[in-house]
Amino acid sequence: MNRLWHNARLMTLEGRGLGIIEDGAVACEGGIITYAGPRAGAPSAAETIDCEGRWISPGLIDCHTHLVYAGNRAREFELQLEGASYEEIARAGGGIVSTMKATRAASEDDLIAASLPRLDALIAEGVTTVEIKSGYGLSLDAERRQLRAARRLGAERDMAVTTTFLGAHALPPEFTDRDAYVAHVCDVMLPALATEGLVDAVDAFCEGIGFSPDQVARVFEAARTLGLPVKLHAEQLSDLGGAALAARHGALSADHLEHLNETGIAAMAASGTVAVLLPGAFYFTHEEKRPPVAALLVHGVPIALATDCNPGTSPLTSPLLAMNMAATLFRLTVDECITGFTREAARALGRSDIGTLAPGKACDLAIWDIGEPAELVYRMGFNPLHARIWRGQ
Ligand code: NIG
Ligand code: FE
Repeated sequence: MNRLWHNARLMTLEGRGLGIIEDGAVACEGGIITYAGPRAGAPSAAETIDCEGRWISPGLIDCHTHLVYAGNRAREFELQLEGASYEEIARAGGGIVSTMKATRAASEDDLIAASLPRLDALIAEGVTTVEIKSGYGLSLDAERRQLRAARRLGAERDMAVTTTFLGAHALPPEFTDRDAYVAHVCDVMLPALATEGLVDAVDAFCEGIGFSPDQVARVFEAARTLGLPVKLHAEQLSDLGGAALAARHGALSADHLEHLNETGIAAMAASGTVAVLLPGAFYFTHEEKRPPVAALLVHGVPIALATDCNPGTSPLTSPLLAMNMAATLFRLTVDECITGFTREAARALGRSDIGTLAPGKACDLAIWDIGEPAELVYRMGFNPLHARIWRGQ
């Protein structure tokens, strides 16, 4: 059935900024937008919905999460409050490996049950597409369970889920040699999971406590052989040149980037690699170095934002709070915060079918009870979502 939302103010996200249309309307047929523009030019429809002057934006896109896992790390949080660093905890067998143990012990149903409340929190704030990474299984079976759970979450709710294989996240205990584990990731895990249709993209953790640029390059080569796009956790804790490496491999995005240098920025600009900034992780880990936002903008690197929802460095399930943090901590403008969770997040996922309001795009909408777009970014812990529309429903 075709539907028309009218008497609305639109953030279409078409063009450079928010693409605002006062007194606008959005029409939809079969889950696809057929019209987004001034109300005066809108087609007629079988069903019309009066938005009473509310704002409509594209549904939000959370383009970097580790949402599927079991257990939590509240105890480690307490240790950090007592002074231990993230790296110290990781080296002492905590960190990613402690979540790995809980995740390996969980069945697919357990993972779904543990993850649904987190997914529902995103839904409550208007998220209509979420990227979910593996990386807490670190064995073929456990990574498969995580990715299958991620796929199933999309069916449990009206939500588009895109999966990312992050086998090269940490060294599992059965391996002592990082090169040997990377070979296992490239030769065994990735080909099997890709064949099963569980992998939309491939990621790695390029860091002293993760994997070296050479090891990441091997993972990227394996992804290329399978025709899969790549992205990278880069320059989160130190500068290993990960972003430049990602750019050389035509990565969709390089994420975190607090320690990114000028060479990396130029390389990202040249390859069109999106900078995904994760203010929740910055905040939660007391990171002191801010990502080089001004230089990214000067070079024209597109900036996306995400929650990085994960148990260790960003137990965050609020895109709205992430926007507020990006503004207050990283000095992003309101427009940059909103484009970061819509149009640019779509770009970070390599998706041209979502992220703006335009004919041909999926009819994923967030309808907001706000007087102006800045209210989305300005408030903390308040949710002004009036309605969430997924594929026209
Ligand atoms: O995005 N840096 C690596 N991965 C996650 C943290 C994972 C964890 O600590 O469990 C991140 O920050
Ligand atoms: Fe992450």
